[in-house]
Amino acid sequence: MRVLLTGAAGFIGSAVADACRRAGHDVVGIDAYIPQAHRGEPRPGADVTGCDIRDGGEIALLVEDVDVVCHQAAMVGAGVSPADLPRYASHNDLGTATLLAAMAAAGVNRLVLASSMVVYGDGRYACPVHGERPAQPRELAELSSGVFDVRCPDCGTPMAWQLVAENAPLQPRSSYAASKVAQEHYAAAWARQLPGSVVALRYHNVYGPGMPADTPYSGVAAIFRSALERGEPPRVFEDGAQMRDFVHVDDVAAANVRAIAAVASGPADSFAPYNVSSGSPISIADVARLVGAGVPGPPVEPVVTGEFRVGDVRHIVASPDKARSELGFDAAVLPADGLRRFALDPLRG
Ligand code: UD1
Repeated sequence: MRVLLTGAAGFIGSAVADACRRAGHDVVGIDAYIPQAHRGEPRPGADVTGCDIRDGGEIALLVEDVDVVCHQAAMVGAGVSPADLPRYASHNDLGTATLLAAMAAAGVNRLVLASSMVVYGDGRYACPVHGERPAQPRELAELSSGVFDVRCPDCGTPMAWQLVAENAPLQPRSSYAASKVAQEHYAAAWARQLPGSVVALRYHNVYGPGMPADTPYSGVAAIFRSALERGEPPRVFEDGAQMRDFVHVDDVAAANVRAIAAVASGPADSFAPYNVSSGSPISIADVARLVGAGVPGPPVEPVVTGEFRVGDVRHIVASPDKARSELGFDAAVLPADGLRRFALDPLRG
């Protein structure tokens, strides 16, 4: 198939491009080389055309004769400051809307959308006394006094994390998360109107070779890795018990290949979200230990600092079941292996 791949020069996009080519697809790669994702000067590669998806005229030409669009381009990160808001709205909301309009005009109605677990906000919790209860964002006063657990709104008991499935409520808590929810809503509306077929892949914490190094927008695995390179121990925030699902970029690429096949053969007028995860939840303290164990020489023990970032969620752990049963996606790389190897993977930037 002929696949238009946006964000093709990025950390995830370049892995998706390789996997698509290995699967026999003809990939048309485009990238806007935004500085937050690509440090320094734009450097168009041989396989990637410099193009900003907000340029409707250029997109209209590129989308002709395409079977599927795989949309990875985005301004990523957590939304560090309110000054970032217009960039999220512009690249992520307007960019996606422009792309969808160009696809509709060209009669292209198959889309794979890169989404994120950030759409779930605080995740899912159960109180030992009251059962499942909604999580409220944690208060600054609690965090400052070293109380990190999410508490039951009825009795204040610390609640345990539960696996989050795709039908969980969407509760964006950052500007980036708001833009990912918007992308999903635009894509779902587009699928109904055309009709079209959309698969939205909700990536959990992605890591692997080519990950951007230490910036405010980098994920924690790269931050730990950069600290180790400077000869410093990884600094683990809160008490280190916060849980995530770390998924290797090669598995994310494999999930995209499956999603492309699903939208190509799937019914029109469909919007289906899927968690993309390893299925092996891990604490941030264990992430730090594994990356520290992968560096040559004696393992470097992390430091648990008790620091916190207001706006961080406590736990967010995916259910991998729907992606497994409907897309046939099962992660091949488990965090225990991949994070150790990540200590020596090349980073970018
Ligand atoms: C990350 C991304 C988010 C993306 C999601 C899914 C960032 C900033 N966040 O969310 O955009 O959609 O993965 O792929 O890129 N921590 C430390 N030490 C540090 C830095 C962080 O212990 O030096 C802790 C944080 O407090 C948090 C955990 O590590 O508890 C994970 O942080 P982060 O990597 O930023 O990931 P998420 O917030 O899970």
